[in-house]
Amino acid sequence: MGAALSELRELAAEIEVHSFDVVVIGAGGAGLRAAIEATAMGASTAVVCKSLLGKAHTVMAEGGIAAAMGNVYAEDDWKVHFRDTMRGGKMMANWRMAQLHAQEAPERVWELEEWGAAFDRTGDGRISQRDFGGHRYARLAHVGDSTGLEMIRTLQHRLAQSDAQVFMEHTVISLLTDADRISGVLSYSRSDGRFVLLEAKAVVLATGGIGKAYRVTSASWEYTGDGHALALRAGAELADMEFVQFHPTGMVWPPSVRGILVTEGVRGDGGTLRNSDGRRFMFDYIPPYFAEETAQSEAEADAWYEDKRANRRPPDLLPRDEVARAINSEIKAGRGSPHGGVYLDIASRRSAEYIMKRLPSMYRQFKELADVDITTDAMEVGPTCHYIMGGVRVDPETGASSLAGLFAAGEVSNGLHGANRLGGNSLGDLLVFGRRAGAGAAAYASGAGQSGRISASEVSELCADALAPLTSEGGENPYQLQGELADLMQSNVGIVRRSDELAHAIERLEDLEERSYQAHAPGGRKFNPGWHAALELRSMIVVSRCIATCAVARTESRGGHTRDDYPSADQALGRINFLLRWAGPKTGPSTGGSLELTTAAVEEMPEELAQLFVQGQGS
Ligand code: FUM
Repeated sequence: MGAALSELRELAAEIEVHSFDVVVIGAGGAGLRAAIEATAMGASTAVVCKSLLGKAHTVMAEGGIAAAMGNVYAEDDWKVHFRDTMRGGKMMANWRMAQLHAQEAPERVWELEEWGAAFDRTGDGRISQRDFGGHRYARLAHVGDSTGLEMIRTLQHRLAQSDAQVFMEHTVISLLTDADRISGVLSYSRSDGRFVLLEAKAVVLATGGIGKAYRVTSASWEYTGDGHALALRAGAELADMEFVQFHPTGMVWPPSVRGILVTEGVRGDGGTLRNSDGRRFMFDYIPPYFAEETAQSEAEADAWYEDKRANRRPPDLLPRDEVARAINSEIKAGRGSPHGGVYLDIASRRSAEYIMKRLPSMYRQFKELADVDITTDAMEVGPTCHYIMGGVRVDPETGASSLAGLFAAGEVSNGLHGANRLGGNSLGDLLVFGRRAGAGAAAYASGAGQSGRISASEVSELCADALAPLTSEGGENPYQLQGELADLMQSNVGIVRRSDELAHAIERLEDLEERSYQAHAPGGRKFNPGWHAALELRSMIVVSRCIATCAVARTESRGGHTRDDYPSADQALGRINFLLRWAGPKTGPSTGGSLELTTAAVEEMPEELAQLFVQGQGS
């Protein structure tokens, strides 16, 4: 334990204290890959995760890892993948991150295979790659439709061979700082309510997303925006928070499973979208931007399934923002399915045997949850909140944030996906930038000297604040507040936005924030989910405020941000990122804290990369 912790000796009687070079928060793909790298570089490393190890949200990822390995199409290479990523992100992605990702993803996939991942194979024994929206070539390495599960299994197995210490079922309450550098992490054990203090020279945030701030979401329970809120309040900068991705296809029925992901792999493998009139409506929504490479008739689209080299891609495989908006419009126009979705049909094109082989989880999911046999019947699907492109602003090479010692990787970070992420680019992101952030944090820690100072009084205040919901007399029910928040965000800061609705959301969020401090969770510290809900609510409100604030500022429509009142893209705004900083108490209740909004110019790419966007190049 470092000398800086001497102040904490008294507290140590009540609070468990540990000391590490690197603390990784989150045990999904990015967190595990970061921890593997940090330990390999000799850093003493801890992993703190909200759920049990192996149950991270990454296991829900289905379709695959986008990587230009050229196994199915030899002509695929990193330049084509780079170009697809930039175009999918409406040219707002950080060019260097998109380049690193496209260049390094194949190596990360082969590494995963070497570590034991059992990828599906092509006929000649190479790793199979499937089609996804916005990718010019079939490039998603996959394990049936359970790729995330295999990825976590493999990474976890690898991590278990290292010295990393894992703190499972621990929620982080606050990042600790000393004179504008990271000094530690305060967490509590969800099972018994113990506080655990981890002194750290460097911290890697790999906490995933914010989906639970919306009513209809593919996100699992962990996705309450903790990492975004922790980083912001500790002093790091967030960027692009208005860009929230609604995946076009979530389940819509029965209500208890609304939002659960229906992989884009269904469309990649031959599934077709139709409205209640039986029309393949995506032909009505082909944007000029993608017109040249998209099939213009049913015959042309169908031909693509026979000879993908010779024909243009079906519009069902346009990037997600385009497809989600189209589905939303069809439903609004009264051409939806009985339960408020549209139809997704793979049975008409593919045999039962093919479907069971390529999409076994989808088959089980619909059979068990909705009593629908997808080998014979169409699915009902609709948009579901899936991903946030906005997050902690990081250095592309190392994942370093604007706060010394704080690193971020995966969904909590910003940059790779611009205004809209392409399917399959998330799992690649976790591997490429998880590794880089782990290396960045370990290198930083080894040069950091003594750990930063931790203030015992600050820790005491944080613990008292965290315990407040157990004794609060305000009587607000945290679940009720979470529900109100999710409905508010869904209706007012959702797939299509308007200034009056955004203004309403901001006003209501202030009110919800006030009420959140009156949240009461009866019972003690042990096994008390109401208490967890009260604490998570705080992060959910902070990130919701961030999303709404940036959504007001972006008076245009682009990628995952659609404004009814500003339906076109604005060229000038397309060259600007919105940045947020926190002005208010760094820790404890966020009452009185405000968001400072500034802008930065989107970084221009070098000429040799810009050339790839000139017709006929890089394709
Ligand atoms: O549709 C899917 O399987 C999701 C993949 C992704 O978000 O990358």
